[in-house]
Amino acid sequence: MRFSFTRDDFPEGFIFGAATAAYQIEGSANGVCGPCHWDTFAATPGNVLHADDGSIACDHYHRYEEDLDIIRSGGFDAYRFSTSWARVMPDGRTVNPEGLDFYDRLVDATVERGLKPALTLYHWELPSALADQGGWTNRDTALRFGDMARAVIERIGDRVERVATLNEPWCVAWLSHFIGLHAPGLRDIRAAMRAMHHVQLAHGTAMSVLREHGQKNLGIVLNFTQAEPASDAPADRRAVETVDAIQMGWFAGGLFKGRYPDEMIAAAGQHMPDGYEDDMALISQPMDWLGLNYYTRALIEAAPHDPWPHQREVLGPLPKTQMGWEIYPQGLEILLKRVQRDYTGDLPLMVTENGMAYDDHVIGGEVEDPVRVQYFEDHLQAVRRCIADGVPVQGYFGWSLLDNFEWALGYEKRFGLVHVDYDTLKRTPKSSFEAFRAALTKGGEK
Ligand code: FCB
Repeated sequence: MRFSFTRDDFPEGFIFGAATAAYQIEGSANGVCGPCHWDTFAATPGNVLHADDGSIACDHYHRYEEDLDIIRSGGFDAYRFSTSWARVMPDGRTVNPEGLDFYDRLVDATVERGLKPALTLYHWELPSALADQGGWTNRDTALRFGDMARAVIERIGDRVERVATLNEPWCVAWLSHFIGLHAPGLRDIRAAMRAMHHVQLAHGTAMSVLREHGQKNLGIVLNFTQAEPASDAPADRRAVETVDAIQMGWFAGGLFKGRYPDEMIAAAGQHMPDGYEDDMALISQPMDWLGLNYYTRALIEAAPHDPWPHQREVLGPLPKTQMGWEIYPQGLEILLKRVQRDYTGDLPLMVTENGMAYDDHVIGGEVEDPVRVQYFEDHLQAVRRCIADGVPVQGYFGWSLLDNFEWALGYEKRFGLVHVDYDTLKRTPKSSFEAFRAALTKGGEK
């Protein structure tokens, strides 16, 4: 099964990439790496399916050359990866030269293969030493992140093509401190509101460090679900506005307008750190691009008897992925257009993650995943419609290169373009990978 398009149907220079994240693939037991809050979250019963953790993962730490060869063979232009704070600074403060050596080798090997390295500085492995001091609820973590950014960029900044400060600050703050599904697994409005601000402050702090260093092409990666009301009832429609405020309003509003949504400050402002307003100029300094991760929509209904935010998510009727997430490609188009209209204007946009989990199996040495091929087809068509309508989308990264540690859902959920056998660590490109290869290469050449 093939895509109906090739790279020629996208503007010249459009970047096709594959994305990963350090904790999900490297193997935190490899090399010198400090403990992080995902290690202890995973070691606590009930948090992660089958008590899986990231200690071995895909062993990318040792197999990165093979993995980069695979990306190149698919005709991709770029590799999105992240640096582990716990590897770069095992105690959260002191630089570990061996950790930086690894990223140095990785970036060299990426460039050698003609791939553009797209760096994300933080994709969620907060060093335990910083977690001990309150993690993202503590302002100091945001300031320490500036030191982490400096250490990484001084070493590999000369070769990376673009830099994102953080991946999905909504997950770092809200999912992890209010919903409680990710490390550190808190369910506390005060902790959540403080984390919501400090993660933005971490971005602003890192931006200043990166600019001072002269680094180019700086951005951040935000995740949005397309929130829609479960019914036509006015209360459900209002509930959707609240969900929007917590995602796009808070993050894009803070970053591009220097302002948090009135509704959130009215409802939960008493939990905000004192003087947060003074940070807004730092947080909203100009960026060069914005990354958007998109997977699904969320159907929302009002929960008037619960405390604010007075809403809950309900199960939708559309076909679902292995995650139970509805497949809803038009959501990507709606969100890209909204973010451009309301916040980013002419700023280049990148789809930095998009993909789906499926219960894939290797049969006769092959993995047939036609549902995923169709998913990518439909979402890339949504991107094409945006481009045709003048939205400056300049790239698209599939999530993910490899099956990997899917956080609280462990290794069961397979998002890869490439299947990983967790007993042997053997990589098997799936038919979705072959679909990209066919669309991106001509007779094996780009
Ligand atoms: C995103 C994360 C990524 C992966 C996908 C499925 O929220 O950025 O690490 O887990 O979801």
